[in-house]
Amino acid sequence: MRDPVNTVVLLGAGLIGSGWAARCLAHGLDVVAWDPDPSAEATLFANVDNAWPILEEVGLQSGADRSRLKFETSLETALSVADYVQENAPDDEALKIRLLNQADQLLPPDVVIASSSSGIRPTLLQEKTQYPQRVMIGHPFNPVYLLPLVEIVGGQATDEDALRAGAAFYRSLAMRPLLAPVEIDGYISDRLQQVLFHEALYMIDAGICTPAQIDAAITGGPGLRWAFLGPMLTFHLAGGEGGIRHSMAHWAPEVANRWTHLPAPDFTEKLVNATAVGCEEIQAGRSIKEFERRRDRCLVEIQRALDEFWFPPNEDGWPDMPQ
Ligand SMILES: NC(=O)c1ccc[n+]([C@@H]2O[C@H](COP(=O)([O-])OP(=O)(O)OC[C@H]3O[C@@H](n4cnc5c(N)ncnc54)[C@H](O)[C@@H]3O)[C@@H](O)[C@H]2O)c1
Repeated sequence: MRDPVNTVVLLGAGLIGSGWAARCLAHGLDVVAWDPDPSAEATLFANVDNAWPILEEVGLQSGADRSRLKFETSLETALSVADYVQENAPDDEALKIRLLNQADQLLPPDVVIASSSSGIRPTLLQEKTQYPQRVMIGHPFNPVYLLPLVEIVGGQATDEDALRAGAAFYRSLAMRPLLAPVEIDGYISDRLQQVLFHEALYMIDAGICTPAQIDAAITGGPGLRWAFLGPMLTFHLAGGEGGIRHSMAHWAPEVANRWTHLPAPDFTEKLVNATAVGCEEIQAGRSIKEFERRRDRCLVEIQRALDEFWFPPNEDGWPDMPQ
C-alpha cells in the first residue's frame, strides 16, 4: 500500500469530511476534497477555519498549513493525486457502493479506500469493486480533528496489508485505531451509543423524562467517568473488591432486564418534535458554533487531564492497564 501518504483525498466534505481535512492539514499533509454539492466548498473552509485555533493550541505538526487544502469539482482530477482516500458521503448504502466503485475504477490498486460510514458493513461496500482488498472502514468520531478513536473494520475481501496501512496512517495522525475483529452492522462503538439513544427516545416517547433530564442524567455522573472508564471497568469498580462478579450477582438478569426497554420506538412526528423541542430548550438560543467551541475546549482539557493522571497509553494507543 502507498507509503508515505502525502496527499489525502476526501470524498464528501460535510461535517466529517471537514473534520478529516482539519486533522490531516494539522499533521502537515496535502488535502484535496471533492463534493458534488458546490456549496460544500464554503462550508469546508469555514469548518477548517473554526477548528484551526484549537488545533494551533494543541500543537501543529511540521508543514501544517491551511493553504494546503484544495477543493476539486472533478472526481477524476481529485483522485489523480491520492495517496489515501477517505470517503465521507451520506450513510446511504447504494450511494456509497456507487461512489466507491467509481473511485476504485480511477485509482491504482495500492491506494487504500477507507469509508467513514457509521455502520455499513465493508463487505457490502467492496462487493462491486475491482480491487476489494483495499476497501475498508475507518470510522471516526465528531469532532474528527480532536477525538482520537477510529474504528477499522475490514470486509471479507480486505487484505491484511490494507488494514495495517490504514492503522499506520491513522496513527501518523495521532489517532487510536481500534481494529474490529468481526464485521458487524454499526461496528462496536455505534452499537453501544445506539442502545443509549434508543432508551432515551423510549423514555421521551413514554413521557418519563425530558431531553434535558436525559442529558443531566449522563453528564454529571456516568459521562464524567466514560472518558477513561468504559462501561466494563465502571461496573468492575462498582463491585468494590468483589469486582464485576459481585456487580453481576447483584444485578441478576431479571433485575437488569426491567431497567431497559431496548427496542427503539417508532420515530413518529410526535416523538421527533418532543425530542427536537427538548434539545432546543437545552440549546437556549445559543449558536451551534458556540457549543462546538466550548465542546472542543472541554475535550482538550479532558485529554490533558488524562495525559497527566490516567494510565499512559500502550503502543496501540489504549491505556496500558496493569494486569
Ligand atoms: N456526523 C457524525 O457524527 C458522524 C460520525 C462518524 C461518522 N459519520 C459518517 O460520516 C459520513 C458523512 O457524514 P456527515 O455527518 O459528514 O454528513 P454531512 O451531511 O455533513 O456531509 C455529507 C456530504 O456528502 C456530500 N455528498 C452527497 N452526495 C454525495 C456523493 N454522491 N458523493 C460524495 N459526497 C456526497 C454532501 O454534499 C455533504 O457535503 C457518513 O457515512 C456518516 O455516517 C458521521
